[in-house]
Amino acid sequence: MPEKKVNILAIESSCDETSAAICRDGEILSNIIAGQKVHEQYGGVVPELASRAHMQNIIPVVHKACRDAGIALPEIDAIAFTQSPGLIGSLLVGAQFAKSLSLSLQKPLIAVHHMQAHVLANLISEPRPSFPFLCLTVSGGHTQIVVCESPLKMKVIGETIDDAAGEAFDKAAKLMGLPYPGGPLVDKYAQTGNPERFLFPEPQISDLNFSFSGVKTAFLYFLRNAGKSTVYKPEQTASEEEQEAFIRDNLPDICASIQHRIISILINKLKKAAVLTGIREVCIAGGVSANSGLRQAIRETGEKNHWNTYIPEFQYCTDNAGMIAITGYYKYLNKEFSDLSVISSARSEW
Ligand code: KG4
Ligand code: ZN
Repeated sequence: MPEKKVNILAIESSCDETSAAICRDGEILSNIIAGQKVHEQYGGVVPELASRAHMQNIIPVVHKACRDAGIALPEIDAIAFTQSPGLIGSLLVGAQFAKSLSLSLQKPLIAVHHMQAHVLANLISEPRPSFPFLCLTVSGGHTQIVVCESPLKMKVIGETIDDAAGEAFDKAAKLMGLPYPGGPLVDKYAQTGNPERFLFPEPQISDLNFSFSGVKTAFLYFLRNAGKSTVYKPEQTASEEEQEAFIRDNLPDICASIQHRIISILINKLKKAAVLTGIREVCIAGGVSANSGLRQAIRETGEKNHWNTYIPEFQYCTDNAGMIAITGYYKYLNKEFSDLSVISSARSEW
């Protein structure tokens, strides 16, 4: 008799994407993501609106995930959900939904850490890294270098001391008047720009931690001075019209140059981590791993340094339930279940 397959339903609702996925024995059968356009007009995610949109989206998204996978709810063996970190109101919508389903189907509940799931997105499809591997996880709220020793054993060896890489992209875009989230737009304009035209400072931090606040401030002054310098010189401040004209006339070069600096900060730390740990299996994960410049830089750096590099498929880079499902699957094999009293948390401690 063939062995019974394990079907996991996963829910992700930590920020502004409502997502559901089905995984069978570690293979993702469906991964449905509903974005929330409502935040664009506010220039950032509005927590209250995000929670409401999750309430509207969650049932249709789960239905579609089941339908696309050809799975009926009674065939589900466990329900995985994002427990932390994220916006608490958003997390609670997914958590309460998962708990209700677990109770009504009488199936186990699996609580998943969102950042651990971003890392494990690298295990979803071939080629998969072998253990131990390094992962640079870069999202809107986090920037971390993680050593992953086995699917459920990870250690953070470096992280940002101020802004996250995605935040640096989004803030730079906002200063240029681009809509939220600006990261993908900076990426798009950068493709036809000259990354060496404008030089932004690299922070001098000797350990494996990151800092993006200095680059952000330099970028602010650079725009205020209409490109004359990256330091504060009140006498150089350009008029609003001059600033706007400077951005309009040089957008691709400005985007390419700021993207180039953000990427070089990330890659230099990753190189350092590889030397210190001696690990040559290197992955990237998180929303910023969708950036075409970073994807190219990691491949080129990997070739030069004899690393094997891995990048998740596009749909598994930004927030998605597929990564929650694969993490849920490993936790299922390990029998790491939660009871209904498990509490959601906005905080990012592992
Ligand atoms: O992982 P994610 O979807 O959500 C969080 O957990 O934060 O990451 C979202 C971040 C945003 O800051 C967004 O601007 C950035 O990822 N991002 C990008 C690109 N696509 C998404 N940044 C640069 N280039 C991209 N192509
Ligand atoms: Zn994320």
